Amino acid sequence: MKLDGVPSRTIWLESDGWSVGIVDQTRLPHEVTQPTLRTIEDAARAIKTMQVRGAPLIGVMAAYGVALAMRTDASDANLERAVTFLGAQRPTAVNLRWALDDLRTTLAPFAPSVRAAAAYARAAELAEEDIETCRQIGVNGLALIKEIAAKKGGRPVNVLTHCNAGWLACVDWGTATSPIYHAHDAGIPIHVWVDETRPRNQGAALTAFELLQHGVPHSLIVDNAGGHFMQQGEVDLVIVGTDRVTANGDVANKIGTYLKALAARDTGVPFYVALPFSTIDWCTKKGSDIPIEERGEDEVLRVQGRLSDGSVASVLISAEGTHARNPAFDVTPARLVTGFITERGICAASREGLLSLYPEKTSAAA
Ligand code: MRU
Repeated sequence: MKLDGVPSRTIWLESDGWSVGIVDQTRLPHEVTQPTLRTIEDAARAIKTMQVRGAPLIGVMAAYGVALAMRTDASDANLERAVTFLGAQRPTAVNLRWALDDLRTTLAPFAPSVRAAAAYARAAELAEEDIETCRQIGVNGLALIKEIAAKKGGRPVNVLTHCNAGWLACVDWGTATSPIYHAHDAGIPIHVWVDETRPRNQGAALTAFELLQHGVPHSLIVDNAGGHFMQQGEVDLVIVGTDRVTANGDVANKIGTYLKALAARDTGVPFYVALPFSTIDWCTKKGSDIPIEERGEDEVLRVQGRLSDGSVASVLISAEGTHARNPAFDVTPARLVTGFITERGICAASREGLLSLYPEKTSAAA
């Protein structure tokens, strides 16, 4: 997708051939900064502080983090240390563990002298694979949007999304946004309701930003407004991303997703989850087994924004001394999900549905 009209990715190898460039998402939408990461500690910090975020992107970031670690010490012990250290940075998105397991398995047979090169090659492959996977999710989701558009007689298809499951959360295209970009590029009139997504406002800061950059019509709404617009018949379809789908089809995603699924069920609005194969956790039976990240209370007590003098500031929104809880994700039960949009096609949100698209996982599925 484009940043200021220039085709861009969220992560890349710098021209020195070894350091890694990223878009710092903690500075968006007010500033586009592209820091360079040179050590595994830089990579870990980028994941932990959410300079990079979104399930697919933190997987690719972790792969490059291993590559950075292998440059300085490619021993078996350091490979193990790198995998453990990076895997501990965020608990919920399974893509992090998936990418690290992949790197460990890929690198183990190589002699330490060639491990760094092999790690960079594999990280680059994972990045390319993510782009193609997300593109294909878009092609499959486009069919759904086309069906709805055909019934609307030229009026825009209204899609509601939560958090940022856009190209900023992946390497390119996004998961939930990929069908939207494909529809927009195909000339289908489309409009997106963007949930602001408190506490970190990924919708306001990131999804609205990237839709604006691509010229997709959208409106930012407060998190509590989605149910109202569904009741009013102003939402044709919900598409969200996910951080982990368990073997039975339960979905962990940004806090607030569950409430949107409940409202969608009550109002008869189709609720789809877009995901790549790397987000399916075949080893975990059900959503209640997913570790839910609890983040610091400051994310709830404060908001970040641009002041009228142009400076970016964080302001307190409650009385000094107020305490907060901050679960970052919730679980939407499979029964509330209309279907999964994957790179292999669309399926029911169930063990059987998932296995119909990924039959080779039958023995892995818990
Ligand atoms: O805490 P975040 O911003 O990393 O949470 C991200 C989400 O919940 C996304 O919707 C999810 O990772 C899917 S990204 C394609």
